[in-house]
Amino acid sequence: MSPGRVALASVLLLPVMARAAAPDYPVKDTPEAAIHRGSVVFQHYCILCHGAKGDGTGRAARLYDPKPANLVLSNKNDHYKELIIRMGGKAMGRSEFMPSWGNELTDEQIADVVAHLRSIRSPAVVMP
Ligand code: HEC
Repeated sequence: MSPGRVALASVLLLPVMARAAAPDYPVKDTPEAAIHRGSVVFQHYCILCHGAKGDGTGRAARLYDPKPANLVLSNKNDHYKELIIRMGGKAMGRSEFMPSWGNELTDEQIADVVAHLRSIRSPAVVMP
């Protein structure tokens, strides 16, 4: 092959090679990436109370009354969830056992965990 053809061939191959190198988990600023990151936040900070599935059946759930919310069946909108996650239950007139995470989680982590909660919400939930 002439040098020109080699160069052309490698330019044509570039997209193929780039695709082969792409990781099989979501990256960058896509909704899927936010949900993925949010699920990691959720695993670290929330499942003790809300449970791995978010249905309010974490290992510590029975210690609390009222119980940790079932986030699969929650009909609260994203804005409300962001506020209660950031400020805690007490500031929202709810149980003080829902901690405030504003000093622990970054704005991005809070937005990501809200995206995760949106992704696990049951399609049967009727939003007000
Ligand atoms: C120590 C236990 C505990 C932990 C840890 C906890 N929560 Fe909660 N959460 C609660 C309780 C209890 C309630 C219910 C408050 C009530 O009904 O008054 C609640 C309520 C909520 C609600 C309101 C849902 C609704 O439908 O009203 C959201 C959203 C929420 N939690 C998200 C989270 C997220 C996200 C995390 C992790 C960053 C988290 N919680 C960690 C105990 C906890």
